[in-house]
Amino acid sequence: MPIRRLSVRGVRNLAPLDIHPHSRVNFIYGDNGSGKSSLLESIALLSSGKSFRSNQIKQLIHHDADRLELECELDETGADAQTQDLYSLRLRNGDVLFRLDGSVLTSQAQVATRLPVQVIEPNTFRLLVGSPEDRRQFLDWGVFHVEPGFIEEWRIFRKVLKQRNSVLKQKEVSWLDVWDGGFIEASEKIHQYRLAYLKAFVPQFESTLAALDAEIKVRLHYYPGWEKDSQLKDILTRQQERDLQLGYTQSGPHRAELRIRVDKLPAADVLSRGQQKTVVAALKLTQGILYKQSCGNAPIYLVDDLASELDSRHRLALCQVLEDLKCQVFITSIEKQQLMDSWTPSEFKVFHVEHGKIEEESLS
Ligand SMILES: Nc1ncnc2c1ncn2[C@@H]1O[C@H](COP(=O)(O)OP(=O)(O)O)[C@@H](O)[C@H]1O
Ligand SMILES: [Mg+2]
Repeated sequence: MPIRRLSVRGVRNLAPLDIHPHSRVNFIYGDNGSGKSSLLESIALLSSGKSFRSNQIKQLIHHDADRLELECELDETGADAQTQDLYSLRLRNGDVLFRLDGSVLTSQAQVATRLPVQVIEPNTFRLLVGSPEDRRQFLDWGVFHVEPGFIEEWRIFRKVLKQRNSVLKQKEVSWLDVWDGGFIEASEKIHQYRLAYLKAFVPQFESTLAALDAEIKVRLHYYPGWEKDSQLKDILTRQQERDLQLGYTQSGPHRAELRIRVDKLPAADVLSRGQQKTVVAALKLTQGILYKQSCGNAPIYLVDDLASELDSRHRLALCQVLEDLKCQVFITSIEKQQLMDSWTPSEFKVFHVEHGKIEEESLS
C-alpha cells in the first residue's frame, strides 16, 4: 500500500510538510543536515513506533515543539480499493495516539500491519554485529507480517514467560510445574511459526544475495532459543536450579537467534564492512520479497544515503531488485546525479531538501 500523501509536523529540523510521493520511486537529495534522514525517519516511526537513529522518540521532536504529528494517506490496491488515513501523534511526555480513518487504534502492531516498512540505512550492518535480539526482531518482523496468528501467540508466550519468571523470583518451586506446561506449549508454537517462515526465507535469501554479489558465501542458522536435539522440557528441568538462582528463564523462544555465518564463523568477524552491508541489504530485500509473495504488495523501502551504503556495482544491483519488487521506495543521497546514475526507473519523482524544507522538482 503506497503512501499517496505524507504530512509531517514537528520532526527534527523539518518544516511542516505535505508531499504527494510517487507510488513507485522517490528520489530525495540535499546537503548534509538538510533533513533527508529525518524525512525517512518520520515514515519509519509512523510504521514501527521506532527510529532507526535514536532510542528516545522525544529526540525526534523539534526542539521548540511539544509534539510531533505524522499522517499519511495510503492507497489500497485491488478491486474495491480505497484510501486509508493513518495518523499518529507523539507528545514529549511519551503519550501516543494512533488513528485509522479517524478511529483510534490501540496498538503499534495495528499500525504496522497497514504500513509495512523496511529500512536500509548506514547503520544497518549493525544487524550482523549487534545483539542477538536485533536479529530475532528482524526475523520476527517477517513472521509477524506473513503469519497472521503469530502476534497473538507471541503475546501469550510473553505473558507465560513473565509469570514463570515471577515464580522463579519468588522461589515458588512447586508452582513451576504448573507454569512449565503452558510455557512449553507456547514456546513450541512460536518456534513452529519461525521455522515455517525460515523454510521460505533461507532459499530466497540465498538467491537475493547471489543477485547482489555472487561471491559472498554466508549461511543462515536458526537457533530456537534452546539446544538443538533436546526437548525444551528436559532443558527446563536441567536448568531449573540455575533459573531459580538467576530469577529468570534462560532458555526459550525469547532467546532465539538468526545466526549468520561464513563457514563456521560469525559473518561480522569475517566480512568487510561493505560486504556486511550487502548481506544486510539482501536480508532486508528478502523480507520484502516474501511479504509480497504472501500479501500481494511489497513493503515500502526506505533507503537512506545510498552512496555510503554500497559501491556503484552493488548500488545498481540493489536498485534492480527494488525495481523488480515494484514497491514504493524513498531513496536519499547528497548528489542527485549519483541517484540517477544508479537507477533510471520508468516512474519516479524527485524531491529536493534544503534547510528542512522539501520541494518536489518538476521533471520537465
Ligand atoms: N530535535 C531536533 N530539533 C531540531 N533540529 C534537529 C533535531 N534533531 C536534529 N536536528 C537537526 O536536524 C538536521 C537534520 O538532519 P538529517 O535529517 O540527519 O539530515 P540529512 O540526512 O539530510 O543529512 C540536523 O542539522 C540536526 O542538527
Ligand atoms: Mg542523513
